[in-house]
Amino acid sequence: AYRASLLHFHADPAFADHAYSWHEDGLLLVDGERIHAAGDYAQLAPALPAGVDVIDYRGKLIVPGFIDTHVHFPQTDMIASPAPGLLPWLERYTFPTESKFADPVHAREVADFFLGELLRAGTTTAMVYCTVHKQSVDAFFEASEARGLRMVAGKVLMDRNCPDFLADTAESGTRDSEELIGRWHGRGRALYAITPRFAPTSSEAQLQLAGELAAAHPGTFIQTHLSENEDECAWVKSLFPGARSYLDVYDRHGLLRPRAVFGHCIWCDQRDFARMAESGAAVAVCPTSNLFLGSGLFDFERADAAGVALSLASDVGAGTDFCMLGTMNEAYKVARMKGSYLPALRMFYLATLGAARSMRLEGAIGSFAPGAEADFVVLDPQATPLLARRTGACDSLEELLFALALLGDDRAIRATYSAGRLVHERPPAR
Ligand code: GUN
Ligand code: FE
Repeated sequence: AYRASLLHFHADPAFADHAYSWHEDGLLLVDGERIHAAGDYAQLAPALPAGVDVIDYRGKLIVPGFIDTHVHFPQTDMIASPAPGLLPWLERYTFPTESKFADPVHAREVADFFLGELLRAGTTTAMVYCTVHKQSVDAFFEASEARGLRMVAGKVLMDRNCPDFLADTAESGTRDSEELIGRWHGRGRALYAITPRFAPTSSEAQLQLAGELAAAHPGTFIQTHLSENEDECAWVKSLFPGARSYLDVYDRHGLLRPRAVFGHCIWCDQRDFARMAESGAAVAVCPTSNLFLGSGLFDFERADAAGVALSLASDVGAGTDFCMLGTMNEAYKVARMKGSYLPALRMFYLATLGAARSMRLEGAIGSFAPGAEADFVVLDPQATPLLARRTGACDSLEELLFALALLGDDRAIRATYSAGRLVHERPPAR
């Protein structure tokens, strides 16, 4: 049992999107790997069976573990590499860096470091791009299995417009993906994502086979990039002249369905968002990446008008922050630049239950519903002198969350738990 302030959102679809529970003096009861109950300390404490330890996190705030719906583990070592925009950045840094993942020892070493960074940042689930090498997927899932984490990942499919040493073929990419699905999807807490990198690096044949694979394995995820950068969008138009839009390229190949998550979506129009909503697909909003590469500003209002499911994502290594608090900070400013407004409560929703819903994993992760997997983060509003001073003067939950989102970083992540086990702990600030 854990005593702290508790915040979580409701998985019950009868509730409005951001219905939440807040227990200022709360108690979180964990039974093995799962949530047993979340409520007021005064209510739950008297019924605690004898011998249950109460870990005292008073003054801290416990929320469900953060979910990062779009991140590239092989790009960990090239985070913050300067380039004038997406396509030069891919050429100069990304492809050479990813070529090293043919070596499974290197892949495992980076995967371990990457997972350490996620946990330090309070992220307990991520949708992860590996490289074109199937051994990079094995290395990643072996590392995440060793830590008992709920992770989604997949082998990048890429059979054209990339260096030869990084290319698969339509057939080999499908064969490798199928083998990896058989090996990993549903093993322990691993889940597989069919991962065409983006439309320019896949032939029509490869996209077609990816769509067929997705239809044959409906429980798997699909992840790719969509409408990130204007040069990229122009390139897609010239490669696929018959498509109505960039999204339509994926649609024609059967890549829109529940559990399909599209990164970026900056240059999507109203019809694209409506089509995503209708098909059950979802958007991963990547603000630090979009600002870093100068890709553009996500239009929350347009997406909301269509009712498409949203989540937040780091997109490391184009993103510059592993932590969802820093990601919220930039998302808030992106929304302001487009004339929209993101309340902090909504940002915490997007980084927890909103992401779980986007992934059709509500009930399993992203909330404290009884029976949910016990993945949670302990946030420390006093982690730094400035945070302590500012949060000490907050009058409302919204103000407290806003200060944590705008001022917080991995120093505010006091501890991270996965399946009821402590997987990261920061020594108390002194
Ligand atoms: N588009 C295609 N590949 C990538 C990638 O690795 N990062 C980002 N941000 N965009 C991409
Ligand atoms: Fe990306």
